[in-house]
Amino acid sequence: MGIIEEISDEIFKNVNKEGVHVIHDLFGEIDIQLILSELAEIESLYTEKFVEDKLFRKRELHEGRKGDACMVTLSKPTTSPFLNLDNFPALETCLEIYEQSVSKLLNEDMKDSKVLMNWQQYFDGDNSLPMHVDVELIDGEWGKYEISFEEGIIPRYVMVLVTENLNDGNGLMVEIDGEISEVKLHKGDLVLFDNTKMLHGVPEGTKFKRTMLGFRSFETKPLYFKKERFENSVPYKNGNVEGFIEELSTEKAIEKLKENGWYYE
Ligand SMILES: [Fe+2]
Repeated sequence: MGIIEEISDEIFKNVNKEGVHVIHDLFGEIDIQLILSELAEIESLYTEKFVEDKLFRKRELHEGRKGDACMVTLSKPTTSPFLNLDNFPALETCLEIYEQSVSKLLNEDMKDSKVLMNWQQYFDGDNSLPMHVDVELIDGEWGKYEISFEEGIIPRYVMVLVTENLNDGNGLMVEIDGEISEVKLHKGDLVLFDNTKMLHGVPEGTKFKRTMLGFRSFETKPLYFKKERFENSVPYKNGNVEGFIEELSTEKAIEKLKENGWYYE
């Protein structure tokens, strides 16, 4: 796809300063079709055993929405048929873009890490989502209108590629320093944001088909969050998300993920 060179310094300035950056039309129709067919192939590999091993997330099936997520990596071959993306070149390129971006943003090599790849399909009907940070909940629940969030790991950088949006580009609201604005996103657009500084949500009235592919790393300087104060914590407030956090090193993050049953070879 040869698009990595288009990730310019401008993006990094924007993500670090403004919290978010959009690259419009990064992917063309052929790229998107390749990505979708590779995702369909991975979806067909879904088993309960992979869910038990925390390689696949439990499939989300709600009215009007379907979501899948699995762990992926660019590193050595593994016994899993999808964990290493060697056989999925379009997705491999997406993961490379994510890893290069995060490495550059953190000024730290994130090679060999595992990344959560998630893909969501929203069909006709109400697709709204409250303003939130992306989080791996350890204690809490995702509701339709509210997220009860007691404990979790907040990934720092999140990348999302829009693979379809039949809502005239509508569907993403962002909140930075209390200011809410709307970001227009069409098929082929890529968004990179600092999830620890920014909230995002989907406004009411977003009701036609929308699909997207996301990448998030829980190993690269994530925040460990708890509603209650804990040892070594500092207060944290990001919009309606309020509690206490500790910034985790990669080692501590992996330790925490393993403690919570994540698969690590
Ligand atoms: Fe989200």
